[in-house]
Amino acid sequence: MAEIRKLEGKVALVTGAAQGLGEAILKEFALEGAKTIIFDIDANESNRVKEELRKTNNDTELVIIDVCNSDAVNIAISNLYKKYKKIDILVNAVGGFYNFDKITDVTDEEWHKVININLNSAFYCTRAVMKYMEKSKSGRIINISSGAGIAPNPHAPSYVPYGAAKAGLLGMTKLLARDAGEFGITVNAIAPGTALTPRVKKVRDARSISNIAKMNPLKNIIEPVDCAKAAVFLSSDDARYITGITMMVNAGNLIF
Ligand SMILES: NC(=O)c1ccc[n+]([C@@H]2O[C@H](COP(=O)([O-])OP(=O)(O)OC[C@H]3O[C@@H](n4cnc5c(N)ncnc54)[C@H](O)[C@@H]3O)[C@@H](O)[C@H]2O)c1
Repeated sequence: MAEIRKLEGKVALVTGAAQGLGEAILKEFALEGAKTIIFDIDANESNRVKEELRKTNNDTELVIIDVCNSDAVNIAISNLYKKYKKIDILVNAVGGFYNFDKITDVTDEEWHKVININLNSAFYCTRAVMKYMEKSKSGRIINISSGAGIAPNPHAPSYVPYGAAKAGLLGMTKLLARDAGEFGITVNAIAPGTALTPRVKKVRDARSISNIAKMNPLKNIIEPVDCAKAAVFLSSDDARYITGITMMVNAGNLIF
């Protein structure tokens, strides 16, 4: 029997897809038959992902872009719509943080930078795709938040500007889900626990990683593919009536 691919014929845009969780999501979408588009600032890593996909007979479109630049986002998404006549799926995966400064050490510049990367970028991309999704009367928007947007990490340090931005994304997800529903658009969030992406390897030391893994009920930390499988589910017809939720993918790191 022919294998049924869950995203056959869908046009899927993933921000931050040149590495880490975004890359895993993009690759899983490609395996499920979607036409994939990378929005990323890093040309070298984007080209690496494109080349890896080419070897598996999957093509992906690259848009080298700073998603914190709203004009650039508007132009790029309008160009994609002209080319494909639709955008079915948007995953806002750009984000992250790079230190654990105490709130009293956080400068205005640092605060705005973290909010910009983690929250404003998702707003710019969402606003730009919404009008096309509304026209098509369908669409899937997935915001990659974090356990840090729900509660402090019980087993390791957290960073306030990042948690604030990721909590903002969860609020945006819930409010937009209600407004978007009448257009057949679902809006959901994934709140990953710690995963060993290239960024996390730089920001967390070995002790912190080992603590998280030991203390998680499932005695391990998640892998990027775990988030990717959740994103496929939320983008597929299987999740057609799921909207406004936060799916925690975290090996039990937070339970409440
Ligand atoms: N890795 C984790 O443990 C973890 C846990 C919870 C949440 N998250 C969230 O998942 C998402 C991905 O995290 P990651 O660890 O894979 O990060 P990462 O740094 O490994 O990957 C982020 C990607 O975003 C791109 N990017 C950064 N700024 C950009 C910009 N302004 N414009 C366009 N592209 C830009 C980078 O080039 C990179 O390819 C983030 O939103 C992060 O907050 C990650």
